[in-house]
Amino acid sequence: MRIALSHPILIISRIIIREMGTGMEKIKDLERIANQILNCKKCELWKNRKNAVPGEGNPDAEIMFIGEAPGYNEDVQGRPFVGAAGKLLTTLIRDKLGLDRKEVFITNVVKCRPPNNRDPKPEEINACSQYLDEQIRIIRPKIIVALGRHSTLYLLGKMGIKVGGISHVRGKMFRGVINDVNLIIIPTYHPAAALYNPKLRSVLEQDFEFVRKVFENIKKGAEILERKQISLDAFFT
Ligand code: URA
Ligand code: SF4
Repeated sequence: MRIALSHPILIISRIIIREMGTGMEKIKDLERIANQILNCKKCELWKNRKNAVPGEGNPDAEIMFIGEAPGYNEDVQGRPFVGAAGKLLTTLIRDKLGLDRKEVFITNVVKCRPPNNRDPKPEEINACSQYLDEQIRIIRPKIIVALGRHSTLYLLGKMGIKVGGISHVRGKMFRGVINDVNLIIIPTYHPAAALYNPKLRSVLEQDFEFVRKVFENIKKGAEILERKQISLDAFFT
């Protein structure tokens, strides 16, 4: 039995239109969240900020990097990871993953700078994390790299995983669902930690190599699925 299919050109153009549609929707949704963040006063941190830092990158990013909170330079520029720790992160993304930072999405759990770079308080994380949740829901990454303790505790906590310390979970992968998105979390040290303690630099590099391997395996899996799909299509035409 033959099943009638539309002309391939029609199928392809429908896919392109649908993809463009999603792309535009995603950009609009991310802009809406960014505007909410720029005007947000849900916790005390708005009082001292020069600029809130919503995050930046590819709306269709397959990998998201999530840090703790903006520091001095991020607060001045309104952009994530643009200081010394950012320079290291950007280098690791390029050298270990072969990606430009524009191809991934980079943000933080807390979007305004805590005074003197102190740790964010639980109530600040509580107030702000709604924005991160929405960003994850919109972008739908395949992998989230959790940078440092706060990001790791928050994200693994959402999967119901209790973490003793970052050294117990770093360089491992946790598969689960966060905000309706099926994804893998890979915790590692915060790049700033490697600046203070150079011994951590090689651990961070090792963890980024692990991220690359996991990402390559995900891609391979998707390719196999796609090939199966193509042979099924050929069977029906
Ligand atoms: N540290 C972070 O956690 N986030 C930034 O954006 C910069 C430094
Ligand atoms: Fe709002 Fe988050 Fe800034 Fe607090 S840190 S004011 S919750 S955007």
